Amino acid sequence: MISTAADVSMRLDKLLTTLALGSRSHVRGLVKTGRIGVNGQPVRTADYRVDQGDIIALDGAVLDARTVRHVMLNKPRGVLTAARDAKQPTVLDLLPPVYASCGCMPVGRLDKDTEGLLLLTTDGTLAHMLLSPKRHVWKCYQAEVEGALQAKDIAAFERGIALSDFTALPARLEILETDLQKSTAKVWVQEGKFHQVRRMFAALGHPVTGLKRLSIGPLPLDASLAPGEYRDLTADEIQSLLEAVSGE
Ligand code: URA
Repeated sequence: MISTAADVSMRLDKLLTTLALGSRSHVRGLVKTGRIGVNGQPVRTADYRVDQGDIIALDGAVLDARTVRHVMLNKPRGVLTAARDAKQPTVLDLLPPVYASCGCMPVGRLDKDTEGLLLLTTDGTLAHMLLSPKRHVWKCYQAEVEGALQAKDIAAFERGIALSDFTALPARLEILETDLQKSTAKVWVQEGKFHQVRRMFAALGHPVTGLKRLSIGPLPLDASLAPGEYRDLTADEIQSLLEAVSGE
């Protein structure tokens, strides 16, 4: 089980705002009135320095004091992969405010109409490595496309499809079902350029009508998550991602 103890050394008031307990003045009020405990003792000074491993409580109830967060979301269609937007719902709107206040950001982006596995993390280095084509972290999608996919399409994905501004790295296509009107396929790509999978299929004359991400490297979408649901990654899942980016 992941510990809920503090994972940084930080001023108490700063930690409490990072944990989305309220504004700096609000959390200072909580501290002053003796409502915050550290390791079972009330602490009344806002500049108290919390240490890694400290247990923080509000009114006696232990808080989840982690500032490092890694979460998987089953992104629904119609939601923007962005931190915030004035008009449209974003993936951060689907998570409790603590994720945004800890600085959790999406790892790359899924198009508004793409669904499925989206990772969000406070670890910018891990995010960068998961996205870098040099690390060869394969992302798997299920695509619904117009028309009948054929062996020549598999070969085209394998060669690398030339798009207007770049040639996609070799990718893998597995045809699951096909008839004259439409096909369903799995596709594995090792890069994540804007609209990449849609553009690759479109270049072969098969517009995409539905797209869902199924996995990122060793991490599959948790099938128990309905669209819009999320959960924290387990310690093993985090470890498997770190191993995937370090090439072990
Ligand atoms: N490729 C796309 O075209 N869209 C996505 O959302 C992800 C990959």
